[in-house]
Amino acid sequence: MTGPRAVILCKSVHHGSTAKVANVMAAALQADLVEPDAFPYTSLERVDLVGFGSGVYFGRMHEALFDWLRGLTDAPADQRAAFVFSTSGLPFLSRVWHGPLVREVSRKGFAVLGEFHCRGHDSWGPLGLFGGIHKRHPDGRDLDRASQFAAGIARRVWHDKAAATCA
Ligand SMILES: Cc1cc2nc3c(=O)[nH]c(=O)nc-3n(C[C@H](O)[C@H](O)[C@H](O)COP(=O)(O)O)c2cc1C
Repeated sequence: MTGPRAVILCKSVHHGSTAKVANVMAAALQADLVEPDAFPYTSLERVDLVGFGSGVYFGRMHEALFDWLRGLTDAPADQRAAFVFSTSGLPFLSRVWHGPLVREVSRKGFAVLGEFHCRGHDSWGPLGLFGGIHKRHPDGRDLDRASQFAAGIARRVWHDKAAATCA
């Protein structure tokens, strides 16, 4: 049995930390992993699930994700399943970092099934003077959690799809 057809749109520009998370999620979902501007809107109809991920930069997830969503006008998301994930220096504020993107994803007609967050190596500004914080993150445990999160989302989408087919 194959899982849902999935794509992960990810922008990871600081240490590639979010890309590491995206990679294990893509493996768990057998998903394509691309930067947002490399995923044409017309391809949306070919997937059941879209993951949106990036690092957090100046209190916000990467603008490329917002740009992609802003351009989504003619291809309705049609309550297509979605999830949001990030890495950041201040993980306890993940709800704050995710908020605007989650709202935009929902506003564009996706059903947001879950959010994932973990620490990422942060050596921005003065932090770089002593090598930064969370140097070893995401670590193996973070990546295991990411993989399990993705597998859980896949099960939910697959279950909903199977139920809709049987109905
Ligand atoms: C320019 C810049 C701004 C950042 N701003 C924040 C921030 O506002 N809040 C936070 O928690 N982390 C912040 N960080 C830390 C990053 O979110 C963190 O290092 C993340 O893991 C980067 O992901 P990436 O390696 O995938 O790009 C910032 C990092 C950079 C380089």
